Amino acid sequence: MYALKVLIIAVWIALVAAQQQSYLGFNSGATLDDNKAKQQADFEKEFKAAQGLHGSPGSFNSVRLYTNIQFGTTDTPISAFQAAIATNTSMLLGIWCSGTKGITSELNALQSAISQYGQKFVDLVVGISVGSEDLYRISETGIENKAGVGTGPKEIVDFIKLVRSSIANTPLSKKPVGHVDAWSAWDNSSNSAVIEAVDFVGTDLYPYYENDKGNTFSNATNVFNYIYYKTLSAAGDKPVWITETGWPVSGPTFGQAEASVDNAKGYWDQTGCSLFGRANVWWYTLLDSNPANKEKFAITKDLSTTPLFNLTCPAGSGAPPSINNDAKSAASTVAITLSLTYMGAYALLGLICLSI
Ligand SMILES: *[C@@H]1O[C@H](CO)[C@@H](O)[C@H](O)[C@H]1NC(C)=O
Ligand SMILES: *[C@@H]1O[C@H](CO)[C@@H](O)[C@H](O)[C@H]1NC(C)=O
Ligand SMILES: *[C@@H]1O[C@H](CO)[C@@H](O)[C@H](O)[C@H]1NC(C)=O
Ligand SMILES: *[C@@H]1O[C@H](CO)[C@@H](O)[C@H](O)[C@H]1NC(C)=O
Repeated sequence: MYALKVLIIAVWIALVAAQQQSYLGFNSGATLDDNKAKQQADFEKEFKAAQGLHGSPGSFNSVRLYTNIQFGTTDTPISAFQAAIATNTSMLLGIWCSGTKGITSELNALQSAISQYGQKFVDLVVGISVGSEDLYRISETGIENKAGVGTGPKEIVDFIKLVRSSIANTPLSKKPVGHVDAWSAWDNSSNSAVIEAVDFVGTDLYPYYENDKGNTFSNATNVFNYIYYKTLSAAGDKPVWITETGWPVSGPTFGQAEASVDNAKGYWDQTGCSLFGRANVWWYTLLDSNPANKEKFAITKDLSTTPLFNLTCPAGSGAPPSINNDAKSAASTVAITLSLTYMGAYALLGLICLSI
């Protein structure tokens, strides 16, 4: 009997886990493609476009940011916060940790946001990433690719501790604190102290850039599976969030990888559709913001809600059915049916548990 109860509870937990909402969104830089600061209106336009994409396989109502600081200011909270509140967009916050002696300005901006926007802001925060690809930039490949100034594992761990103590007595105290890096940085055992220090492992996965792994487009799924598995196994029991992934719609050929709209669509269908709704995913991207990057990843032109390719997941990919953004009611019918199914399952399990 005891074993049966344990089994039933295990099934119950699995059901809860399956039902738990996973986040779906895009990355968003602090500047526009011309290096000018994004203002609140720019962020709002972006977040609305993300939520309104035609044929979208789920609502892209989350955003990953790289910094808390409004571009061009010392420590003014980034205007993305107000735009997120205005559009009900959840946020994976970012603390920029490279090329800097400290993160005081980032923490000041965060504290200001808590006091200025209060619970409305707090409720939308999914987690806080302390750093972005800092360890990759100091790795052998990062140096070879001239990826820029990075930060070492010891400093990242120190910054994580600083963030934890800075939010300890604030309404953000329960939010997960993590770090985002390339899969290869997580796979590097010299960085294991960072894994120990985080609540989640954010990973950036780009088969396109894996020019030593057979990165022809037809092999993209194999390369993705290889690098995703490497991150999962390095992360151990820490949850892995896919903080960046995508395939460029235009740009130079990288190794054997060709950038094109067709390949971007193929990657979305094969890789994206196998993840949406099952893992937390912040796709790269809706709007390009790095003029130095020759690869362009935006899946839509000028934030049009009509994307460059059909976003609906192919039948059989297991991804959620597409949301017709012109008829939200259809989506909510699906949601209600699903939650009624779950309620029925819980009730049944509860009855069985009581009767044994
Ligand atoms: C905001 O979005 C969440 C889902 O992300 C939803 O549960 C909630 O009802 C929305 N709130 C409003 C005011 O629309
Ligand atoms: C592994 O990580 C350490 C510390 O971040 C770095 O110095 C080293 O270059 C990395 N190894 C490789 C092969 O990149
Ligand atoms: C495909 O990718 C896998 C994983 O990186 C690699 O081992 C294999 O050699 C690649 N195949 C081709 C044909 O490039
Ligand atoms: C998009 O693709 C889906 C699934 O393949 C298909 O049912 C739908 O008609 C396509 N939509 C457009 C606008 O082509």
